[in-house]
Amino acid sequence: MSSHGAPIPMTAHPGAPLSGQADVPGDKSISHRSLILGALSVGETTVEGLLEGQDVLDTAKAMQAFGAEVQRDDDGTWHIHGVGVGGFAEPDQVIDCGNSGTGVRLIMGAMASSPITATFTGDASLNGRPMARITDPIALFGAQSYGRSGGRLPMTITGAVDPVPVRYTVPMPSAQVKSAVLLAGLNAPGETVVIEKEATRDHTERMLAGFGAEISVEETIEGRVITLKGQPELNAQHIVVPRDPSSAAFPVCAALVTPGSDVLVPNIGLNPTRAGLYTTLQEMGADLTFENPREEGGEPVADLRARHSPNMQGITVPPDRAASMIDEYPVLSVVAAFAHGVTEMPGVKELRVKESDRIAAMAEGLRANGVTVEDGPDWWNVTGLGPDGVPGGGTCRSFLDHRIAMSFMVMGLGAQNPVSVDDGGPIATSFPIFEGLIGGLGGRIERTGG
Ligand code: S3P
Repeated sequence: MSSHGAPIPMTAHPGAPLSGQADVPGDKSISHRSLILGALSVGETTVEGLLEGQDVLDTAKAMQAFGAEVQRDDDGTWHIHGVGVGGFAEPDQVIDCGNSGTGVRLIMGAMASSPITATFTGDASLNGRPMARITDPIALFGAQSYGRSGGRLPMTITGAVDPVPVRYTVPMPSAQVKSAVLLAGLNAPGETVVIEKEATRDHTERMLAGFGAEISVEETIEGRVITLKGQPELNAQHIVVPRDPSSAAFPVCAALVTPGSDVLVPNIGLNPTRAGLYTTLQEMGADLTFENPREEGGEPVADLRARHSPNMQGITVPPDRAASMIDEYPVLSVVAAFAHGVTEMPGVKELRVKESDRIAAMAEGLRANGVTVEDGPDWWNVTGLGPDGVPGGGTCRSFLDHRIAMSFMVMGLGAQNPVSVDDGGPIATSFPIFEGLIGGLGGRIERTGG
């Protein structure tokens, strides 16, 4: 089942080279944060380039339920009239975050230090994901949570009446957990300190500073120590959302594995906490260039150019790079199938608790298409079959996971035979224009039944 409707089976057909320009949508992480921080600010925040995927639309609706005014202009600019830090109203309806772990976890953090109660739910994927990683730290502020067994949604949270600031070391590499604690810290008096042993995407820190919070980051032997002064007045901002490097990965990787391809993906944010895939692809020998590198809104940006790359070699991806490419392992595993030799991906336990168990989902579909995969609790290896050697011809389950569905569509474009997914519906959560964009490059993806 797709997250919001009947399954949409899809098939990607090989044979057509991809060429031209791929304009990918806005960054999902920054889009969620724009809405939430806009809702916690005083005045009107305007957002250009917001990702209008279902995940982000669900967060927009949630911010309305907490009392912010959220509107979209005909020209695509979003306007958020915030309620200020501590100003969230109690929602009079259940908050449905759909498929989005980022949405629900950040919002739970943002309301945890306000004296209101809210109930959260999601689709079957989200309701199976662990939430103790959020409820544990927000309990330290004084919030109470009542969820299903295993700390899962649906869940009701009552925020702290008298929140206290916390010092919290994030036990797993997770930007969602780090961000939830920082957002909870906004309405606590004094300093909230969050320590992460491994650096994860730092959009929350950058954006909090941009909205006027007092926040500092120190690299120490303990890790990255982030200190936030509570109860600031956040000032409304004008935000231009950069394009999503995680979405760019799909047309880039499709070009690398499809003979005759040459694709330009302009204006991609290459924040080092997000760009690990591109380093990895270059190490594998991908024909990938960064054209016109520049800075925009304090973030490094470049136009990515990817051409068919028949000489890629498998590598061992360094585990300390995992956080900077955590969403890109599914599509990397597809590229690995078209490389020579084995690609080893160690240190990736977090992949098992994403929208799906991404190691299991990719292993099942890769095997169904003739590719050898070995896996363990926190690692997996893919044996490459070379640029012309991937049989394809299989049908894969997408497990309500947009990135699984798109990864197998990429595989079908370069394989010997078409590749199908049982449900491409979840693609709309993060990349609603995916099929049209691939079609515009000359690739053939078809809806096949339903
Ligand atoms: C995200 C953090 C990552 C990532 C997700 C977006 C964010 O999740 O997988 O797609 O915007 O903070 P984790 O925090 O679970 O690693």
